[in-house]
Amino acid sequence: MKIAVLYGGVSAEREVSLSSGKGIMTALKNKGHEVIGIDFNPNELEEIIQLDVDIVYIGLHGRYGEDGKVQALLDMLKIPYVGSGVQGSALAIDKAKSKLFFNRAGTRIAKEQVLFKHSFKEEDFICDVDYPVVVKPNQEGSTIGITIAEDEETLKNGIKEAFQLDETILLEEFIKGIEVTVAVLGNKGDEKALPVVEIVSKNKHYDYEAKYAAGMSEHIIPARISAEQTEYVQKHAVLAHQVLGCDIYSRVDFIIPEQGDPVILEVNTLPGMTPTSLYPDAAKEIGLDYDEMIEKLITLSLE
Ligand code: DAL
Ligand code: MG
Repeated sequence: MKIAVLYGGVSAEREVSLSSGKGIMTALKNKGHEVIGIDFNPNELEEIIQLDVDIVYIGLHGRYGEDGKVQALLDMLKIPYVGSGVQGSALAIDKAKSKLFFNRAGTRIAKEQVLFKHSFKEEDFICDVDYPVVVKPNQEGSTIGITIAEDEETLKNGIKEAFQLDETILLEEFIKGIEVTVAVLGNKGDEKALPVVEIVSKNKHYDYEAKYAAGMSEHIIPARISAEQTEYVQKHAVLAHQVLGCDIYSRVDFIIPEQGDPVILEVNTLPGMTPTSLYPDAAKEIGLDYDEMIEKLITLSLE
């Protein structure tokens, strides 16, 4: 097949995408495909139209890639692509809106306060969430722009930093517990949850360095959690994927607190495919090595 791989792009996760793209292209070449790599700039879409490819693999992360915009353009051009469509992508990248859907589906979510740049006044601000507070830009990935604030000053600085990246930000209660993630794979209605991956970070939190520097985190499969917790996160990962309208694959992140049900954090519709990423490790557990996993995503997307 002739396959275009979009990588790089213009989001804050550009570096991550360069690494994902490299892995995806190598896998597709190993499988005998003709691969055209495109360091994606939204102004250069014409190039893709002229290529006459069988399918586009979107190896981008974050804005103009994971948010449904590229998917919308490809839909209009009638070019097939791997993964979620416009609506699933646009919802999943929006953490605040996603949580409304998770809540509706009966999945436990973290307590939160949503702040909007246009109406935010520092002098009137009252924090409704107990410390420590996690400050998150609404539409970023890879923990970029996240602050875990234990006091008011750190919180205020965290809010300023997050507003530099996004017009909407989230303040969430910090949930102490085991961080796990669930890879979801399959066509609509036939999605399966893969074995649960537990993340052990060498840093205090699973931050950017812990995510991407070799040896800074460990992936333990299956996660060392109870059978009930495993069942909960696998069931709710598929539910979350479905309720947002995602397609083909996604990776759903949870925290397992000391008390009560697991808490869902978010759905990633274009999960990292780098050498330290989680999705490929989960796929390995069901017998798909990296190259086979990429090939499987292509096959499912063309069904
Ligand atoms: N946002 C990064 C790429 C991930 O979820 O893996
Ligand atoms: Mg994410």
